[in-house]
Amino acid sequence: MKSILSFLKPYRLSVVFIVILTFLSSMLQLYLPTLTADIVDVGIVQGDIAYIWKVGGWMVACSLLAILLTIWKSYLSSKTALGFGRDMRRQLFVHVEQFSLEEFQKIGTSSFITRSTNDVKQVQDVTIMILQMMTRAPLMLVGGIILAVSRDAVLSLIFLAALPLLGGFIYLVSRKAIPLFGQLQKKTDRLNLIMRESLSGIRVIRAFNRVDDEKARFQEANTSYKDTGLKVNRLMAYLFPFMLIIMNFTNIGIVWLGANRIDAGEMEVGNLIAFIQYAMMILMALIMLSMSFIMVPRAQASAKRMNEVLNMEPKIKDKEQSVTKLHQPAQSIRFEDVSFYYSNAEKPVVQNITFEAKTGETTAIIGSTGSGKTTLLQLMTRFYEATEGRITLDGVDIRELPQEKLRSQMGYVAQKAVLFSGSIADNVRFGRQDASDEDIWKALRTAQAEEFVLQKDGGIDAEIDQGGSNLSGGQKQRLSIARALVRKPSFYLFDDSFSALDYKTDAKLRASLEAEKEHAALIIVAQRISTVKHSDKIIVLDEGKIAGIGTHEQLIKDNLVYQEIVASQEGQEVDQG
Ligand SMILES: Nc1ncnc2c1ncn2[C@@H]1O[C@H](COP(=O)(O)OP(=O)(O)OP(=O)(O)O)[C@@H](O)[C@H]1O
Ligand SMILES: [Mg+2]
Repeated sequence: MKSILSFLKPYRLSVVFIVILTFLSSMLQLYLPTLTADIVDVGIVQGDIAYIWKVGGWMVACSLLAILLTIWKSYLSSKTALGFGRDMRRQLFVHVEQFSLEEFQKIGTSSFITRSTNDVKQVQDVTIMILQMMTRAPLMLVGGIILAVSRDAVLSLIFLAALPLLGGFIYLVSRKAIPLFGQLQKKTDRLNLIMRESLSGIRVIRAFNRVDDEKARFQEANTSYKDTGLKVNRLMAYLFPFMLIIMNFTNIGIVWLGANRIDAGEMEVGNLIAFIQYAMMILMALIMLSMSFIMVPRAQASAKRMNEVLNMEPKIKDKEQSVTKLHQPAQSIRFEDVSFYYSNAEKPVVQNITFEAKTGETTAIIGSTGSGKTTLLQLMTRFYEATEGRITLDGVDIRELPQEKLRSQMGYVAQKAVLFSGSIADNVRFGRQDASDEDIWKALRTAQAEEFVLQKDGGIDAEIDQGGSNLSGGQKQRLSIARALVRKPSFYLFDDSFSALDYKTDAKLRASLEAEKEHAALIIVAQRISTVKHSDKIIVLDEGKIAGIGTHEQLIKDNLVYQEIVASQEGQEVDQG
């Protein structure tokens, strides 16, 4: 909670102002019963109509002023709390953006989303409440007690019975409610997770007729959330009637005792009326405080979840004095005896990898599914860091380079094409912001995407739906290739990027990529022999280890793993390549 509160720092002036406004409006409110007592004791009892008008007018003026101050305070506190919420969301987002893939895996996307929306809102709401109520309640409580005692000390003894009763009950309820709030946030996470999975997987769910199961899964999480919510609300439901009962009995007690004292001539009527008003203020203040006792722990649960994210250090960070001298563009990338473990795995995924990919060459990586091909590319882009050995760019360890500088040399085409909502041009320009329309068309031509883009309404200005859902798999792949091409990188990393293309388009694309080789290294991950066979260098990966490096002709002669792959694909293709 402490570090979350530091977000309030920029608003300290507003907070001080809110406290002053609260103080003033509370003072006014505490002053009013005194005036009531005067009206009764002086005005009514002695029949002084002019006095009633005078004090009555004064009361109206005081009330109006109190209202104005309260409105002002509400405005300021809402503004402060909303700004505070915005700052927290911004900070969470900025922080999360620096995370490496490992941190994402640890917390999970849905939970990140809940934490930066729902949890922030909890904290924000409580901040409003604290600003509005908690500053006021203690003042009203202490002020009310002092004034009530000064009106009639004997009558005040009633509070000795009422206050502990109320306090004890609030304590009991909040002890039960607080753990439930933590659970409620976790259950919100779960609801979001299921919602996200069901929505993004809707096609698969329908195709496998699993709609009912998904419904049941959601229903279960939903019901579980409801049950916990009900438990909390049931507790709250006890709280209020009980408080009202105590308030009303206190009232009865005061009137009864007060009436006796007036009868005995020990108290005036006006004093009793004022006393009753103070009593109500005291009890209301206590109720407000009790609300905070319940709401604050709820926000604390949320603050803890936010802090978990904010305190999580990205595992991959730029060195403070990172190398910036690197003659651009780089000419070669080298793996030197690299091994890598995923943090949650026991076995290395890739082991003792040594090879070099150079400008002017096509380096292909082939291997069965799960052999570690994607992992190799993700090590080159430093999404993950080699556990052993090192990767160098023109002889410089990539850990010495700022990540941005390293990645600016890479044209990465992920295995699963990712597009953003916006136009085709926007998506291609993601590779290089200052690319002209001319550059975009050129990249699309090389990526064999020109034809289908021309057929779209609006050409490169045609809109792409969220996640590229209005495009075919192969079209998405080609657009992500164009995005890499427009960047003019030193290294192209194609992760199985031709798999959704037919043999003919695959061949054409590779032919047009030849022109890029002049100033770049092509690194192609593929499953098909036809895609890799004309490469200058083919790396055969087998269960994370290199089984051989060579040209197609060399490997087909003496590499068992490669021969097996060739044999398994024989007859599958007309030789186009
Ligand atoms: N984030 C991760 N955490 C833990 N293990 C992972 C992670 N990503 C991949 N793996 C494991 O590492 C191994 C290699 O995965 P990788 O994605 O590199 O294979 P691949 O050769 O690209 O396979 P494919 O041809 O199917 O794309 C697999 O066994 C996989 O289960
Ligand atoms: Mg892969």
